[in-house]
Amino acid sequence: MTPSFQELFGAPPEVVSHAPGRVNLIGEHTDYNGGFVLPMAIPQQTHVELRRRPDRRVRAFSVNTSKEGKVLEFELGRETVGRTWLDYVQGVTQVLRDAGHTLSGFELRVSSEVPLGSGLSSSASLDVGLLRALREAFSLPMDDVQLALLGQKVEVDFVGAPVGVMDPMAASIASQGVALFLDTREMRFERVPLPPGLDPIVINSGVAHNHAAGDYRVRRAECEKAAALLGVSQLRELSEAELPRAEKLPEPLGRRVRHVVTENARVLATVKALRSADLPTLGTLFYASHESQRLDYEVSVPEIDLLVGLAREDADVYGARLTGGGFGGSVVMMARAGTGATVASRIAQRYAQRSGQRPTVLVPQT
Ligand code: GLA
Repeated sequence: MTPSFQELFGAPPEVVSHAPGRVNLIGEHTDYNGGFVLPMAIPQQTHVELRRRPDRRVRAFSVNTSKEGKVLEFELGRETVGRTWLDYVQGVTQVLRDAGHTLSGFELRVSSEVPLGSGLSSSASLDVGLLRALREAFSLPMDDVQLALLGQKVEVDFVGAPVGVMDPMAASIASQGVALFLDTREMRFERVPLPPGLDPIVINSGVAHNHAAGDYRVRRAECEKAAALLGVSQLRELSEAELPRAEKLPEPLGRRVRHVVTENARVLATVKALRSADLPTLGTLFYASHESQRLDYEVSVPEIDLLVGLAREDADVYGARLTGGGFGGSVVMMARAGTGATVASRIAQRYAQRSGQRPTVLVPQT
């Protein structure tokens, strides 16, 4: 039995907060290049319960990762990176202090429905859930965008995962059924509702990734190198007309640039297709994005390609693509309205037989 907050800490929580995971509809590996993204919240959330303490101790329990009721502890001001889930809590208290906010110690119980390493932003939903709980408990003056930016700092400066701003922004301000079109350079956003006639599907392949590890870091460094060679500060500044010049860069840089530049164009085209409910065009853009990730950006894996291939064979699916950081994780599909649940379980079943993996359908939620 999982212990309740009361059982762990002897008193009820003062604050309860939540933050969702996200699925990125399109715009992959564009956020750290100053480009466009289009995430949407998923129903799965991280839940945070919190109670202030009069001293400087933080005592934290995670339903997902703590063994046998084990409470982890640290002292405010003595945060040290240890590579466990407590790093997210320590990262949050450190970035809040660096930003000039004052906290006392607290007790914390965290539980999450967002599967770890699934490309659905489990860590950003944890960061944002923690920041929301602390904002409320200590009346910290910050708006939702400032909160998201602090969430990104937790990942980049403390945990050591050099991620962009998409995931904390999605966890902080996106909602279900409405895509969030975000220009990451200008930090401008618009809300784009999904048209009727469309059922989004999200299937976790069961192959987990880890962005603090090497591959994501390497892609990011390749983009920075390519930008420097092309004389721009971010790849966002390049248009499709400039691709012939970029394609002359030494391999694999030319292909990396081609992905980022064409992906930015695909995000803009997707927003248009959603607004005009042009579902066949939407589907074509999804498949093109997947091919670009597979061949030019090289962030897919065979299991993910299998899921996308099964979607292609299914007459009820408009389009499908790898979502999130890649090297495993999840696939997002768009299916005909009313077919989402049956299509998702049909594809998940075929995938399980062919791959030997254990997929899970996150959207639609059953
Ligand atoms: C991860 C990162 C994001 C983004 C995506 C790829 O989810 O956290 O910032 O770079 O990968 O689009």
